[in-house]
Amino acid sequence: MSVEILFLVSLLAVLTYAQETDFVYNGFRSANLSLDGIAGITSNGLLKLNNDTSQAQEGQAFHPDPVQFKNLPNGTVKSFSTTFVFAVRPPDASVRVNGFAFVVAPQRGLPGSLAGRYLGMFNETNNGKSSNHVFGVELDTIQSPQFEDINDNHIGIDLNGLKSEKAASAGYYQDNGEFNNLSLISGQQMQVWVDYDGADKLINVTLAPIHVQKPKTPLLSLPWDLSPIINENMYVGFSASAGSLVASYYVLGWSFSVNGEAQALDLSRLPKLPQIGKETSKVLTIGLPLMVLFVVSVLILGAVYVIRRKRKLAEVLEDWEREYGPHRFKYKDLYIATKGFQDQELLGAGGFGQVYRGILPISNLEIAVKTVSHESKQGMREFVAEIITIGRLRHRNLVALLGYCRRKRELLLVYDYMPNGSLDKYLYNQPKVTLNWMQRLRVIKGVASGLLYLHEGWEQVVIHRDIKASNILLDTEFNGRLGDFGLARLHDHGTDPQTTHVAGTIGYLAPEHVRTGKATRSTDVFAFGVFLLEVACGRRPIKRGDTEDVILLDWVFSCWDRGAILEARDPKLGLEFVEEEMELVLKLGLMCSHANPLMRPSVRQVLQYLEGDLPMPELSSIGISSAGSTVGHREGFDNLAYSSSVAESLLSGGR
Ligand SMILES: *[C@@H]1O[C@H](CO)[C@@H](O)[C@H](O)[C@H]1NC(C)=O
Ligand SMILES: *[C@@H]1O[C@H](CO)[C@@H](O)[C@H](O)[C@H]1NC(C)=O
Ligand SMILES: *[C@@H]1O[C@H](CO)[C@@H](O)[C@H](O)[C@H]1NC(C)=O
Ligand SMILES: *[C@@H]1O[C@H](CO)[C@@H](O)[C@H](O)[C@H]1NC(C)=O
Ligand SMILES: *[C@@H]1O[C@H](CO)[C@@H](O)[C@H](O)[C@H]1NC(C)=O
Ligand SMILES: *[C@@H]1O[C@H](CO)[C@@H](O)[C@H](O)[C@H]1NC(C)=O
Repeated sequence: MSVEILFLVSLLAVLTYAQETDFVYNGFRSANLSLDGIAGITSNGLLKLNNDTSQAQEGQAFHPDPVQFKNLPNGTVKSFSTTFVFAVRPPDASVRVNGFAFVVAPQRGLPGSLAGRYLGMFNETNNGKSSNHVFGVELDTIQSPQFEDINDNHIGIDLNGLKSEKAASAGYYQDNGEFNNLSLISGQQMQVWVDYDGADKLINVTLAPIHVQKPKTPLLSLPWDLSPIINENMYVGFSASAGSLVASYYVLGWSFSVNGEAQALDLSRLPKLPQIGKETSKVLTIGLPLMVLFVVSVLILGAVYVIRRKRKLAEVLEDWEREYGPHRFKYKDLYIATKGFQDQELLGAGGFGQVYRGILPISNLEIAVKTVSHESKQGMREFVAEIITIGRLRHRNLVALLGYCRRKRELLLVYDYMPNGSLDKYLYNQPKVTLNWMQRLRVIKGVASGLLYLHEGWEQVVIHRDIKASNILLDTEFNGRLGDFGLARLHDHGTDPQTTHVAGTIGYLAPEHVRTGKATRSTDVFAFGVFLLEVACGRRPIKRGDTEDVILLDWVFSCWDRGAILEARDPKLGLEFVEEEMELVLKLGLMCSHANPLMRPSVRQVLQYLEGDLPMPELSSIGISSAGSTVGHREGFDNLAYSSSVAESLLSGGR
C-alpha cells in the first residue's frame, strides 16, 4: 500500500469522523439524544428540558457522540458554530423561572450538579473551578446577586462557572444599529447563534426572534481563547434546572458544526409548540362548551322555529282540490297578507268567525279573509265545490268570492275588500255620516238586484240564507253588495249532517224556515223584507227590552194598522226623504215578511215595485190585516225548540 493511499484512507477517516460530529435536528422526533433527569422529547418532536413535575430537578439533553474540538490533546480549539430555536414558557407571566444553557462539557451530563439550581450545571463547591472544563451560554431569567447577574432577562457567556464572563440584556441589533429588547420568557420562539472563531479566539453570541435573519451585529462578542477550557473531545447539549414552579423549556431545532458555520435550520419543518397553557385551556374548558352550547341552542331554536312556522302555516290540501287550483289560496300568502291575522287587521267578528283585512303579497290586491271554523270533514268536498261555484258568480251587487284555503278545523274564504264596510254600522253605530234616503234606496235596489241574480240570474238557484244589514257591504260608491252568500250552508256541512239546523240570524228567519229547517227563495225574501224595514226604520229587527222584546215587524205593522206607517221611519232622516218611496219600502217590507210564503212576492216583483214598474197591491188585499196572526214569526220563535247551542251561536252572529 502506497503512502498516498494510506494518507487518503486516514483523510477519509478524519472526514467521516468530522461528518459525524456535524448534525442538524429540525425537530427531535428521530434524534438519538442522551437525555438526563426530567428532559424528554414530546410526541411531535419537541425537546423539552423539563417535564411537568413540580419536583426540583435538572434536565439535560446531549448529543450522544463526542465532538472533537482539538486535533491534539494540548492543541487549540477549532472553530465551531451552533444555532438553535427555543421557547420558554413560564406557568404564569408573573412567575420568575430559572433559565437554561447551551453547554459544552466533558461528559454527557454534568455529574454532581445541584438539582434545581446553577442551571443544572454546577454545585456550590465546583462552581467557577477551572477543573470543570465547562463552556456555557446561559439564557438566564433570574437575577442572582451571587453571580453578579445584570438583570433577570439576559444572555451570558459562562466559563467554568455561573458568574458570566460577559453578559447582555436579551435583544438584538437591527442592521441600522437599533436595539430591540426581547423577553426570554415571553413564550415566543427565538433563535440563538453561538460562533467561535478558533483563529481569532472570538466568541460571538447572537439572538433574534424566529423568522428574523441572523443579525449582523452579535449581542455578545467576547475575545477569549477556549483552549484551556474545552478538551479534545467534548459533549454538547442543553441543561436546565426546574425551580419549584416549573416553566417549560422547549428546544425546537438544533444544528452544530465544527470548522464551519452550522447548517441553517429549516424553520418550516420545526415541530409546533403546544397550544398556550392556561388561556388555551380556559378557552377549551369554558369557551368551547359554551360555544357548543350556543351553537346547539341556536340550531334547536332554529329547528323549533322552522317546525312551528311549518305547523303554523300548515294547510289541508286533498287530491280532489287540485282541480280548484286557481281558487285555492296558500295559507302562507293569507298569513302574510293579514300580517299573521293580527287584531289590527280585524274587520269584524261574527257567529261564523272573524274577518280580516289583508293585502296579497305579490298582486297587492286588497282582500277580506273570513275565517270559518268547521269541525268535521264530512261534506267539506261538497261545500268546497259549492264555494267554487259561488266563486264564479259575478255581479256588481255581490261581493266577489275570490277563493278559499283550508286548514285543520278552519276554512278561510277570500273576498274582495269593501272599503266602506258593512251597512249596519251606518244604520246603528251612528257615525258622523249616516246614509241619506237616496243612498239607502240605492242600497236597497242594489241588494234586490244582487238577490235577483242569485235566485234567477244564474244556471243554479243560489239561496243566500243570511240576508241582513251586517252582510251588506258598501263599495267605494256606496253601492250595496251582498256578501257571505251560501255561508249558511257551511253550518249544515260543518256540523253533524244528520240534524238539519236552522241557519241564519234570529229576527230574519221566516216562520216556515224555523219550522221545517228548509231554506228557499221565499225565506230569502222574508229576510229581505226585514232588511227593508231595518234600512227604512234604522232599527234592529229585535230590540231587546227590559220587560219585552220589541219586534220591528210587529211595530211597523202596528204603525201601519194605525194608518200611520210613516211614523216607523228612521227619525235620523229628519224630513229628508220622499214620502211615497218611504211608504213603498215600509209596505214592501211588511209584504215580503208575510207569514205565508205564498203571499210573499218574488225578488223580480220586488224589483219591479221598487222601480215603479209595477204598482204595489194593497196590503189588505194580500191577507195582511189587523187580525194580527198573519205576521207569524212570533209563533215560530215560541213554538220551536232550538238546539240551544245553535241558537246561541246564531244569536251571537246577529250583530
Ligand atoms: C417526568 O420525568 C420523570 C423523570 O424522568 C418521570 O419519572 C415522570 O414520569 C415524568 N413525568 C411526566 C409527566 O412526563
Ligand atoms: C444512540 O446513541 C447511543 C450512544 O451513542 C448508541 O449507543 C445507540 O446505538 C444509538 N442509537 C441509535 C438508534 O442510533
Ligand atoms: C499537555 O500539557 C500537559 C500539562 O499542561 C502536559 O503534562 C502534557 O505532557 C502535555 N502533552 C503533550 C502531548 O504535549
Ligand atoms: C460537586 O460536583 C463535583 C463533580 O463535578 C463532585 O465531585 C462534588 O462532590 C459535588 N459537590 C457537592 C457538594 O455536591
Ligand atoms: C430594554 O431593556 C433594558 C434592560 O431591561 C431597559 O433598560 C430598556 O429601557 C429597554 N428598552 C426598551 C425600548 O424597552
Ligand atoms: C463576531 O462578530 C464580529 C462583529 O462584532 C464579526 O466581525 C466577526 O466576524 C464575528 N465572528 C464570528 C465567528 O461570527
